Amino acid sequence: MCGIIGIVSNKPVSINIISSLKRLEYRGYDSAGLATLSKNEINEKKCSGRVEELEKILFKSPSDGNIGIGHVRWATHGIPNVTNAHPHSSEIVSVVHNGIIENSDEIKKDLEKKGKKFKSQTDTEVITLLITEALANHNPLDSVFKTLKKLKGSFAVGILFKNHKDIIIGARRGSPLAVGYSNKENYLGSDSYALKSMTNKISYLDDGDVCILTKDNVEFYDSNKKKINKKVHLLSDDKGISDKGDYKNFMSKEIFEQHVTAKNCIKEYVDNLKEDINIFNFPIKPSNINKITLIGCGTAYHSCLTAKYWFEELTKVDVETDIASEFRYRNLKFNENNLYIFVSQSGETADTAAALDICKKNKVKTCSIVNVVESTIARNSDWVLPIHAGPEIGVASTKAFLGQMIVLFILALKISKSRSEIANDLYIKKIKNLKDLPAKIKETLKVEHNVQLMAKEFLNAKGSMFLGRGSSYPIALEGALKLKELSYLHAEGYPAGEMKHGPLALIEEGLPVIVIAPKDKYFEKTLSNMQEVIARGGKILFITNNLKELINENIRFGLRVPVLDDSLSPILLTIPLQLLAYHVALLKNCDIDKPRNLAKSVTVE
Ligand code: F6R
Repeated sequence: MCGIIGIVSNKPVSINIISSLKRLEYRGYDSAGLATLSKNEINEKKCSGRVEELEKILFKSPSDGNIGIGHVRWATHGIPNVTNAHPHSSEIVSVVHNGIIENSDEIKKDLEKKGKKFKSQTDTEVITLLITEALANHNPLDSVFKTLKKLKGSFAVGILFKNHKDIIIGARRGSPLAVGYSNKENYLGSDSYALKSMTNKISYLDDGDVCILTKDNVEFYDSNKKKINKKVHLLSDDKGISDKGDYKNFMSKEIFEQHVTAKNCIKEYVDNLKEDINIFNFPIKPSNINKITLIGCGTAYHSCLTAKYWFEELTKVDVETDIASEFRYRNLKFNENNLYIFVSQSGETADTAAALDICKKNKVKTCSIVNVVESTIARNSDWVLPIHAGPEIGVASTKAFLGQMIVLFILALKISKSRSEIANDLYIKKIKNLKDLPAKIKETLKVEHNVQLMAKEFLNAKGSMFLGRGSSYPIALEGALKLKELSYLHAEGYPAGEMKHGPLALIEEGLPVIVIAPKDKYFEKTLSNMQEVIARGGKILFITNNLKELINENIRFGLRVPVLDDSLSPILLTIPLQLLAYHVALLKNCDIDKPRNLAKSVTVE
């Protein structure tokens, strides 16, 4: 999952390439590079690390040229260094690439037999050398098609040609690619977000499509080289979201605006006058839904797990959850009365998109719950329920997780009502409680000071455990994931009742164990599991909505979140855990918005 940008213009492009690459950094930030064409030479500049480094290089030695391509990398083949950074250029061709060429080793061997030399360890360089070879006998478009035929895998590319100084060619197979239009300037980008600062007119390539951009024109071809037309989409505003204001980083802004996120989301779905939920046009009539399968990756998967408890509590529908990378390879029995719900912040996650494609091939109904409504997953699903969270820039997902949970809760409630499985007064009560949620989130955010103190307990820890039961179990998983990704500390999330089946062996004197125990039907059971940990010397950090239990001599540290509807407590309990991961990472001086080895949008398998 890397980021691609290409610009053809009547003025120098390097500054705009840099600013687009900065927007694309959420896709990868191991290394960066750009190539422009000036004085009939390909001028390549690359660095390891962030786009900022590339900017410094350009500042010392500017790149001219009215045409260029750029790239941010998240390493798959070859370590992140300058040599492996994109673009990968020959004398006459320069290529940026996102995705994986699965047969690159084979192609490489063939090319080496012909005496071709490789400079990098990447799979991308085979594309450069294949196109270079084809250009001896073909024009650029034919050379690209000829090359594409030889490649296996899922990818998107942007290509610059030394002897064709007016064109950039883009091609998509699997990985997303968009084209943007402006006056005397056209763009190629991994997604619309990269292009948003330059245009709001976008077309999307479909699988197998190829495009040729000049500054005045864009032509599209399908995989059979037949010319095709593309719909132009008008993008909505960013509403200045890419500004972190007075916050230290995007993640803290995103955590602290969650009451607003919740308010915006609830406003979109809850009818204020009628105390009802405005969700219509179900792809399957709710009374006919036989089973719901919730699918996602990482944090999005945790929202699916949380929702499973809601669907089971509120409806009689059978519910299943799956991790997209598992779902896509299972031997599934599809049923036209099953509803397949895909949850993804970015809407571009390769595994989730592939799982959705499998459902489409099996002609079953799909729903997506996304933040980016222009995304591949949103465009490919039968039904889209946006979370309305606004762009999430911090790589670790916070406000989007909250938005996903809210939409899933609302959906469970609506399905229950439509199937007459919830009494009207309970339905209205749940909606009222939902409307109170933003205020309760705001109140919960006040725990920050206590969380800061709690964070100190992790500084010398070897690892940590997060325990919960019922709907607090996925929240424990999410708390552990946040801590891992932000602070690089080992953390395990576990159902509290499972401890005695193995993980208890990990408990030793002073190990931080976060126990998430709202006052629900599991409360007493969780306390018993906590005693098992205390007996073995674990250091208990207790998160609850029950004040009384905080006073316990065996609890090292206690935190209380406000009381609300039991069903909604997972949403409130998430917040101290986000803050905990954030503050441990701050204490450890980690890069909060861009944790090591990660990327915001995982567009490779
Ligand atoms: C963790 C995180 C990831 C994503 C996962 C899926 O903080 O952000 O685990 O949740 O990569 O991404 P989306 O939601 O874009 O499909």
